[in-house]
Amino acid sequence: MDIEVLPARDTTRTLHDPLWWRSAVIYQVYVRSFADGDGDGTGDIAGVRARLPYLRALGVDAIWFNPWYVTPLADGGYDVEDYRRIDPRFGTLEEAELLIRDALAFGIRTLVDIVPNHLSAQHPWFQQALAAGPGSPERERFWFHPGKGEHGDEIPTHWTSSFQGSTWTRTTDADGTPGEWYLHLFTPEQPDLNWNHPDVRREHEDILRFWFDRGVAGVRIDSAALPVKDPTFPEVPDRPGPGGHPHLDRDGIHDIYRSWRAVADEYDGARVLVGEVWLDDAERFAQYLRPDEMHTAFNFDFMTQPWNAARMRGSIERTLAEHAPVGAPATWVLSNHDITRPVTRYGRADSGFAFDRKRFGTPTDLARGTSRARAAALLVAALPGSMYIYQGDELGLPEVELPREVIEDPMHFRSGGVDPGRDGCRVPLPWSGAESPYGFGTDGAHVPWLPQPSDWASLTVEAQERDPASMLALYRAAIALRRGSGDLATEALAWLDLGADVLAFRRGEHTASLTNFGPVPITLPAHRGVVLSSAPLEEGALPPDTTVWLDL
Ligand code: GLC
Repeated sequence: MDIEVLPARDTTRTLHDPLWWRSAVIYQVYVRSFADGDGDGTGDIAGVRARLPYLRALGVDAIWFNPWYVTPLADGGYDVEDYRRIDPRFGTLEEAELLIRDALAFGIRTLVDIVPNHLSAQHPWFQQALAAGPGSPERERFWFHPGKGEHGDEIPTHWTSSFQGSTWTRTTDADGTPGEWYLHLFTPEQPDLNWNHPDVRREHEDILRFWFDRGVAGVRIDSAALPVKDPTFPEVPDRPGPGGHPHLDRDGIHDIYRSWRAVADEYDGARVLVGEVWLDDAERFAQYLRPDEMHTAFNFDFMTQPWNAARMRGSIERTLAEHAPVGAPATWVLSNHDITRPVTRYGRADSGFAFDRKRFGTPTDLARGTSRARAAALLVAALPGSMYIYQGDELGLPEVELPREVIEDPMHFRSGGVDPGRDGCRVPLPWSGAESPYGFGTDGAHVPWLPQPSDWASLTVEAQERDPASMLALYRAAIALRRGSGDLATEALAWLDLGADVLAFRRGEHTASLTNFGPVPITLPAHRGVVLSSAPLEEGALPPDTTVWLDL
């Protein structure tokens, strides 16, 4: 269907709105893969600055940048060596400051990524700790521990890493003999910090101020339920009760975010804390969102649901119910830099998401997946709360099955090569042209750091801007309508019962969103007009795998 161009936005209003984050559309930029300004094959801040008009045209309120700090890239930048400097591959601090300023001039706020659980093993603190040896104050900022057994050669606990395998690596003492072990919930290149140590707390509060002073509007908090550990290092119980897990969601974690909130509240305007909180327990999840802690947290429950009306509705109901008591808005997330792209996921027999179910060669119906991803985008854009868009989802990019020899993600290696890892959703974006690098870099640039498929010509921004039926056109229209609609901005959700295959709800008296998960078209309820549809209606009926917004 044709999508009309909507009026430009009132940036003054948004920038001064202290509650902007409650209904914001936040675009996630994975800098390494967004746009390459200096032509070395790696995306950078110069590339982002050059593409700000694109983000303004998309209509987003804010950008969240994955870590752009100095890093050995052992885990895509989630191994930070220096929080106060930009990695030279991505640019300079001055460029970051200019980017924050330029983005604001376009009415777009900036969020940066903070990784409290761990540092890079190359960080001076860890290097000092290794050099200083057992029993030193330098080691107390981390979790060094003697091994078990007569010779200390048995790991201190059998905790499992989030990336599979052990969470302990043994050090070597100055005289060359095997020494203590140190804890790393992720790779050995990411040693865990000891959050009982005052230096660790002070340093992170300073880092927050460093970035708030530079005008960032908030932080995304990485692995936010992990930093606090049980210092007695017990094994993980079979069924840990609330707060009973030795390294996940311990009660002491909330003090950290209360003090971060106090730092954020020292600043003018709302500086927001957004948590990456993976927890099954809805009540425990909501505790992170109490009024003196984080503003919002990612809603992974919804993101992992398969393409199924009842499952998705159940998740939406749970989400709204768990947020209500703490007064925090929900977030809606279809993917991120860790997750299989939606057009691929929804085109598979198993359309839900779990890290341990990823395999090479999974059969995928991309046409079906794309229809569903379009429908999903409209569905989430109609829900109350804030919405996150991972770069490239607005272009309908599929997950790329990369040749093993180019994969860098440690998740792939630590699975023994069984899991393809997460690089398939991190392939550099296609901007223009008929072949790689598709405008990702400057003319004559190096090849992109991950190879782009040869059949992406129709997925470029340039191609989609010419096509009123493209995924990009749909995203632009949905975001503009959402911004312009009083109902979608403010009104509560009320379910409409249109049968088991349809997920339908009203926002206010006049706006409804209907998604057909069933195999046959469904008749629409009485309405004044069609506002937007993810696919053309069929003789007035809503086809399978389609969402429509109606003016009732
Ligand atoms: C988070 C990040 C992921 C990273 C991990 C360790 O889950 O999203 O990319 O690998 O934390 O920092």
